[in-house]
Amino acid sequence: MVLRGSKAIDFLSEQAVKDDPGASSHWKYYHSDFSYNEGQMKGIQGFGGNRLPYGGLRKWIHQFLQKPYRNMASDFVSFEKVDQCANIITNKQNRAYDLDVLRQSITLSFLKNKCPNQLNGQSTVWVIGDGFASMTSLILANRFAKRVVLVNLTKTLLVDLYYLRLWLGEKKFDKMVKLHTLTSSEDDISKEDNSEDFEIIAVQASDYNLLEKYNADLVINIASMQEMNPEYIAKYFSEIRKAKKSNDVLFYCCNRVEKVLPDGTLTRIGEYPWLPEDDVLVNELCPWHQKYYEFSIPMYKKYDGPIQHRLVKMTNN
Ligand SMILES: C[S@@+](CC[C@H](N)C(=O)[O-])C[C@H]1O[C@@H](n2cnc3c(N)ncnc32)[C@H](O)[C@@H]1O
Repeated sequence: MVLRGSKAIDFLSEQAVKDDPGASSHWKYYHSDFSYNEGQMKGIQGFGGNRLPYGGLRKWIHQFLQKPYRNMASDFVSFEKVDQCANIITNKQNRAYDLDVLRQSITLSFLKNKCPNQLNGQSTVWVIGDGFASMTSLILANRFAKRVVLVNLTKTLLVDLYYLRLWLGEKKFDKMVKLHTLTSSEDDISKEDNSEDFEIIAVQASDYNLLEKYNADLVINIASMQEMNPEYIAKYFSEIRKAKKSNDVLFYCCNRVEKVLPDGTLTRIGEYPWLPEDDVLVNELCPWHQKYYEFSIPMYKKYDGPIQHRLVKMTNN
């Protein structure tokens, strides 16, 4: 079944009260206080900041503290424009342009430098585990892809769509955004329309196998697989490898070198199901994702562990 725009939000709000099979112990904990009632959301935690926009002196201090991160992006040709778009999007959503969003702006500009063919305005990008749909919005606002397939746990996906609607406005949201779900009987979305427009296809994590219906040129996962059970990481790897048909599929994976979830599950980026035949284009600690800032001394603090980013041409072996 395919649900458009606001109908998708209504559907997800009904689904959000159910247990999510894709949620690890980490996400069961962070989603435990989440509720959505007639447009009012409560208990949003664990997937990025959503403070009100910074103003006055506070804005100046944030911009000052964000300077070292913007300097890291100075060689990425598209950064200035992406940065401006992020400012416009977050303003429309009445939320701050914080470090969580700035990381997405820098990463997208980095990827535009590294793999321009996969972000050529005609491509399809899967974003697995976005937050407030920041990466999805930036990709489309910059016209870097024609279609974004946005996959997330039901509760976070609901928040992603809610923030997309704030950015796009109701009319464009209803036109551009579709939820493809297996919960009810399935339509064939490709028969449904062949519009020339940019589009966003939302998919619940539990329906991960719908991904094979959409080709992918680039797949992005940031600070997300590190919080999934290995079983789900493996499912996504398998879908990504299936997505390689005629074209090359690049996977940008930026996750903790090692993380232990509340139930003791251990995830290590180096132990995800990579294959020796994969062509590794980038593999290093992500420069803009090692420290965050706060208004207390020391201002720049290390995250709980180092974060590695990899850009890999995936084999379908
Ligand atoms: C810490 S947030 C990161 C958000 C954003 N990518 C960033 O860099 O700030 C982790 C994201 O992964 C999502 N996630 C967790 N388990 C998932 C699953 N099985 N499938 C898809 N997304 C998942 C969460 O809902 C959340 O959106």
